[in-house]
Amino acid sequence: MDPRRNPFAPGAGTPPPELAGRDALRERVAIALDRIRAGRAAQSAILYGLRGVGKTVLLSEMRKSAEREGIAAISIESPEDRSLPAVLAPALRAGLLRLSRVQQLSASVTRALKALAGFVRLKVAYADMEVALDFDPEPGLADSGDLESDLADLVQAAGEAAKAHDTAFVLFIDELQYVAERELAALITALHRANQHQLPITLVGAGLPQLLGRMGRAKSYAERLFIFEPVAALDLQAATLAIRNPIEDEGESISDEAMAQIFTETQGYPYFLQEWGKQSWDVAQTSPISADDVATASIRALAQLDSSFFRVRFDRLTPSEKRYMRAMASLGPGPHRSGEIAGQLGVKVTSVGPTRNALIQKGMIYSPDHGDTAFTVPMFDAYMRRIMPEEF
Ligand SMILES: Nc1ncnc2c1ncn2[C@@H]1O[C@H](COP(=O)(O)OP(=O)(O)OP(=O)(O)O)[C@@H](O)[C@H]1O
Ligand SMILES: [Mg+2]
Repeated sequence: MDPRRNPFAPGAGTPPPELAGRDALRERVAIALDRIRAGRAAQSAILYGLRGVGKTVLLSEMRKSAEREGIAAISIESPEDRSLPAVLAPALRAGLLRLSRVQQLSASVTRALKALAGFVRLKVAYADMEVALDFDPEPGLADSGDLESDLADLVQAAGEAAKAHDTAFVLFIDELQYVAERELAALITALHRANQHQLPITLVGAGLPQLLGRMGRAKSYAERLFIFEPVAALDLQAATLAIRNPIEDEGESISDEAMAQIFTETQGYPYFLQEWGKQSWDVAQTSPISADDVATASIRALAQLDSSFFRVRFDRLTPSEKRYMRAMASLGPGPHRSGEIAGQLGVKVTSVGPTRNALIQKGMIYSPDHGDTAFTVPMFDAYMRRIMPEEF
């Protein structure tokens, strides 16, 4: 069918034509943010899940609806190689400046910007921090040079500014698993303190499953501040909505059999649903899209994933990491015992420990339970066997 009208949108953070199966989660977060703005007790959310399940898309939807409600939102993505202060400082400054809609900055925003000026003194330790300053620091405000206490001052001043402006500040941080543990701990402490003062400032975070352990280790009271919300593959009903609604909105249709086949092939993973939807539409000559169309589309979809979604991850691996991942893949989708993987490689667990840790840091694998190892990319085992047919 006409590719110009193809509604599907495979991609990183690309909004889907139908955001299926996430209404309850979105509502829970919207309620928490409204309560926080009103100065009431509420736990904000940390979304965690595998690659391609739709965390980024959810965060941006949540940000948009928070902004529609008049909440001041700051969106950042934590890159692997930059410090949290470096990404946070300029985003916070922009957010503070947006709070004051009038030319003349309010007293509370001015004070928060002074706190930011003090905070930027940490540049000694975080050399990658680059931010324009609007004021000189206020002595004693966020200028001690200690990340934990300065970030707490800064978050508190920002929370007070939000309160003075009858709104809330919400930090939306994606790829939170890449924030160094020490920095994560400082952020949690800062938010905890603001929470104790009932200030309307919070975090909605998203990241890979390793985030859970990192947050727990960073600060044990993270569990009281946040609800950890798993973002998983869609069930058959939601997956059907994700595929069928966009097709029907274009005045076309898909057979039940074809839909069932798409669900089997994709296991309901959102990224894969978009890819299969897109290819099935392009393959089909007319409505309804048939099971035969999906069979042809599957080959194309897989080839497309192999050259993009899977490939970009594979290309980041060193030779020894590839060997480790390939050994895991020989054992199937997982999770696998670390001992079994080492056994597959014919080495001791301890000798591959550093490789395993590096892979966790890179976000390629995670440990669902102590001693277990699993892929963070769905269906990566089959890909590893395709790309490296010969073991090792
Ligand atoms: N609920 C949903 N229904 C249908 N499609 C969805 C849904 N959520 C996400 N998608 C689609 O899945 C793809 C991946 O979404 P997104 O980039 O948000 O995932 P992610 O979890 O952030 O992945 P990564 O961990 O790789 O960053 C996008 O093409 C998006 O349009
Ligand atoms: Mg993402």
